Order: sequence, then C-alpha cells, then structure tokens
Amino acid sequence: MSVEGDIFTTAVVGSGYMGGGIAMVLALGGRAVALADADAQTAALALARLTREAQEHESQGLLPPGAAETVRRNLSAGESIESAVAGADYITEAVPERVDLKWDILGQISAAARPDAIIATNTSAIPISELAQAVGRPDRFLGVHWMNPAPFIPGVELIPGPATAARTLDRAEGLIRDVGKVPARVADTPGFVANRLQFALYREAVRIVEEGTATPEQIDTVVSNTFGFRLALFGPFAIGDMAGLDVYESAYRTLEKAYGERFSVPASLAATVAAGNLGLKSGHGFLDIDAADQEALVAYRATAYARLSQLRAALGRAPGL
Ligand SMILES: NC(=O)c1ccc[n+]([C@@H]2O[C@H](COP(=O)([O-])OP(=O)(O)OC[C@H]3O[C@@H](n4cnc5c(N)ncnc54)[C@H](O)[C@@H]3O)[C@@H](O)[C@H]2O)c1
Repeated sequence: MSVEGDIFTTAVVGSGYMGGGIAMVLALGGRAVALADADAQTAALALARLTREAQEHESQGLLPPGAAETVRRNLSAGESIESAVAGADYITEAVPERVDLKWDILGQISAAARPDAIIATNTSAIPISELAQAVGRPDRFLGVHWMNPAPFIPGVELIPGPATAARTLDRAEGLIRDVGKVPARVADTPGFVANRLQFALYREAVRIVEEGTATPEQIDTVVSNTFGFRLALFGPFAIGDMAGLDVYESAYRTLEKAYGERFSVPASLAATVAAGNLGLKSGHGFLDIDAADQEALVAYRATAYARLSQLRAALGRAPGL
C-alpha cells in the first residue's frame, strides 16, 4: 500500500476497545504502530488479540486478502509508554475517560515524544482545551475522535484546541483520509458534534421509557426501522430538506405544546421557513441543493433505501435482539 503524507510511524497509548481498533486501522493503512498500555504484558495481549481479530476479519471477507499479514507486519507492542511514543510521528491516547488519567498520560506522552510529533486524544466528550493544558507545546495537540468499532465506522471527528496549529490539523486530516476514513472538522465544545446529537437522542429515548410510553425494545424497533434507517445514508439536514421544513416547523409547534421549551421551533428554522425556503420542494432549505441535482437525488434515495433494506434482509436479525 502506498503511504501518503509525512506520518509513517505511530503509537497508540491505551490498547483497549478503541485504541485497539484505531491501531488496526493505522496498521492496515501502512503505518508502523507501537501499542502501549499500563504495562508491557497488557500491550502484548492486545497485540495478540488484534492480530487474531484481523485474521478472523480477513477470513470472513470483512477485510481484504493480505490484511492480517499487513497488521502483523505493522503492529508491535511497546515495553512502556515512553519507548512506544519516542520515535512516533503521530501518537494518540485512548485511555479511559477520566480527566486526571488523561492529564497524566498526555503529560507522559508529551515529555517522551519528539517535539514535532502530533499528539491526539480520543476523548468522547472532554473539551480539548481542558486536556491541552497537560501537553507541552499544545500547538501539536488535537482531538481525533473515532467511533466504535473503529475498523468499520467511516467517520472521525477532528477537533482543534485553542492552540492547535493549522499544520497539525492538516497533517492529522491527511492521515485520517489516507487510512480510508472520512474526517470532519468540528469545534471544541463538550461532546463535539456526534456525541452531543447521540446523547440528545438517547436522553429522549430514556425519558420515553420512564414515562411508560414505550419499552426500550419498542423504541429500538421504531428508531432502527424509521428515521434511524435513513441516518445510515443522510444527515438530519438532508433529511429535513427532503421532508420539507414547513412540516418540521409545524411538528415542533405541536411538540412544544406537549413537552415545552426543549421542543420549541429553532429560531433559524422559523426564519428559513418564513423566507419561503422549505427545502427541496422550494429549491432551498438549510442546504443549497442544486436544482439540476434534485431529480437525481430523489432517485438515489429510492435506490439507497431499497438496497439498504435488501442488505438488512440478507444480514437477518441481530443476535439477541
Ligand atoms: N468505547 C467507545 O464506544 C468509545 C467511542 C469513542 C471514544 N471512546 C473513548 O476512547 C477512550 C478509551 O475508551 P475504551 O472504550 O477503548 O476503553 P477501554 O477500557 O476498552 O480501554 C482503555 C485502555 O487503556 C488502558 N489503560 C488504563 N490505564 C492506563 C494507563 N495508566 N496507561 C496506559 N494505558 C492505560 C487499559 O488497560 C485499556 O487497555 C475513552 O476516552 C473513551 O471515552 C470510547
């Protein structure tokens, strides 16, 4: 595999669920990856687990032929955090989500890393500005937030902190693209974009259960077979523009009467509708979809949903659900 950019050697500190998945993607992308954990034995066990998993994924056709050998060749287990990160161009931490622990680990990494090495955190929700204080030379530090399971989820959020250099962000984005993922730059706010949205949905779902309106099983059935089904292909703004923003506005008015302020019509939605921009049917909405593409978009949507239904039928029910 040809390797683009200037990041060849990497280290992952914290070789659990996320760190292991991230290490596998970097290794598959042709980077040398040194794993580190709380002790050498844990890192060595992670190395054995990841090479075994890569072999299983290859046998199942989930990874291309030769993938397991690439992972075996590129992955190694470090004796310590210091030795794993010392020669790396790019280092990410993926230790448990505790501010004190992340501070400690980021301090150790930045003391042992080369001054020009990029240092990333995979935090789910802690502001990058808060963690940046633990890093010497925070211009080389940023959030690179992967989703679980990292080998198979395409998107990665890139979050610059207040001191992150533009070049750090560009280099990290280049790496993420080159290992086959889809990067999205987002601002440094708690939860970033993905988890803020994900947790808003989860909170409302738990409330519905608490009210006795539906069971967890019923909610999962509704979500994964209705609007959640669409989300595999389109984001909320594309879906809103296709549905019609006037429809959304009136739905919010009804919901606000029942549930109060948390369902009030967002001001910019009201303004967009008031300006006559209702989405696809009026030509403009929150997105500016070219009129020339609209017919093709509707046809794509039909194909995409039909194919997704076929894929789900072929996969069958998820075990245990
Ligand atoms: N699990 C998810 O779905 C998910 C998704 C996105 C981001 N994250 C974030 O990724 C990070 C890691 O989460 P995870 O689910 O992989 O956790 P995990 O518990 O599976 O892995 C954490 C790893 O860190 C190691 N570790 C603990 N203390 C250490 C130390 N002092 N030095 C070095 N290594 C140490 C553990 O041994 C373990 O291997 C967290 O910040 C989490 O919020 C998790």
